[in-house]
Amino acid sequence: MVESFSPKNIIVTGGCGFIGSNFVHYVVNNHPETHVTVLDKLTYAGNPENIAGLPSDRVELVVGDICDAGLLDRIVPGHDAIVHYAAESHNDNSIADPEPFLKTNVEGTYRLLEACRKYDVRYHHISTDEVYGDLALDDPARFTESTPYHPSSPYSSTKAASDLLVRAWTRTYGLRTTISNCSNNYGPFQHVEKFIPRQITNILTGVRPKLYGEGLNVRDWIHTEDHSSAVWTILTRGRIGETYLIGADGERNNITVLRMILEMMGKDSDDFDHVRDRPGHDRRYAIDATKLRTELGWTPAHTDFADGLKATIDWYAEHRQWWEKTKERTEARYKAQGQ
Ligand code: NAD
Ligand code: DAU
Repeated sequence: MVESFSPKNIIVTGGCGFIGSNFVHYVVNNHPETHVTVLDKLTYAGNPENIAGLPSDRVELVVGDICDAGLLDRIVPGHDAIVHYAAESHNDNSIADPEPFLKTNVEGTYRLLEACRKYDVRYHHISTDEVYGDLALDDPARFTESTPYHPSSPYSSTKAASDLLVRAWTRTYGLRTTISNCSNNYGPFQHVEKFIPRQITNILTGVRPKLYGEGLNVRDWIHTEDHSSAVWTILTRGRIGETYLIGADGERNNITVLRMILEMMGKDSDDFDHVRDRPGHDRRYAIDATKLRTELGWTPAHTDFADGLKATIDWYAEHRQWWEKTKERTEARYKAQGQ
């Protein structure tokens, strides 16, 4: 028996970032009965343009920090759920400077859990498959809900810590929570520091794409709209206290994805540079989403990766003004790191 919950007034933290803003669009387009309050600090990764143009009676933006307990006291009462996306999300940044990751990912989650406890609010926690560490390239296994935690990077260790806080608050205080751990997302509004948008915008600006190491590392790609539909499914019908893995059987190694991008953009498939590998680089992520599919009946809509990738390339080509401002700064940072 699955629970059923119809949220009318939700807070989406990090709703001006990549996946959070896609979720806000998803709710506005598919669930007209639900109002969204976006709580976002607008770090380098947050852009209010991502939700600009959505109806003001459906979406309100509050600019602020999830670590600010006073702000949470002002805005949380009256909401029936928090969907927590806000995070420092980029592995390479966490290797260069872990501190903001500890603050936002660990303390920020703690503050939100405390606010939910105080005001009896349902909480859904957005997490990542990276909490499980990595799999060997020749290992046929995939991650499941019972895979032990084994994070590798400062980023993934702070996400793992935040997941454990959620579990402790659920068991100790009876908080109404669910957790989802998703694989690598792609789609519109993703920051140009990340793999797919970085390579697309490199080609669009006449720069050769940059591949870490040999490019044999495997990521399990899912379109961000499918992540959104899965989160909504878990928020409204997931069993309280449970974890659900989200994935769409999209495993590919990096060199394959890069060559697809090059070919789709009319370039030679060898037209890229190998650059310094990421320290501690996770080899392979792979999700077994059987629990979500069988228990809650969720299925992804974007099952053709080539189609989704082509649409993503088109989106970046058509939205230069959205990414051009941040591109130069991002590439300067990578250059300083030898990447
Ligand atoms: P992102 O970096 O694009 O966006 C993060 C957002 O959070 C930004 O809008 C930023 O301004 C906001 N933010 C950061 N610190 C904040 C703070 N202290 N207070 C309020 N807002 C703050 O991240 P993303 O890629 O969209 O990831 C969103 C969530 O999904 C993260 O929790 C991440 O761990 C998780 N996740 C990401 C992926 C992926 O492929 N990108 C996959 C699985 C899970
Ligand atoms: O698995 C989910 C995770 O996916 C999320 O938790 C993270 O928030 C999200 O950033 C993503 O992490 P990755 O480290 O897998 O994503 P990234 O886009 O940084 O890199 C994807 C792969 O591409 C990885 O193996 C490193 C490689 N890479 C990355 C960049 C930026 C390159 O080869 N070249 C690059 O320029």
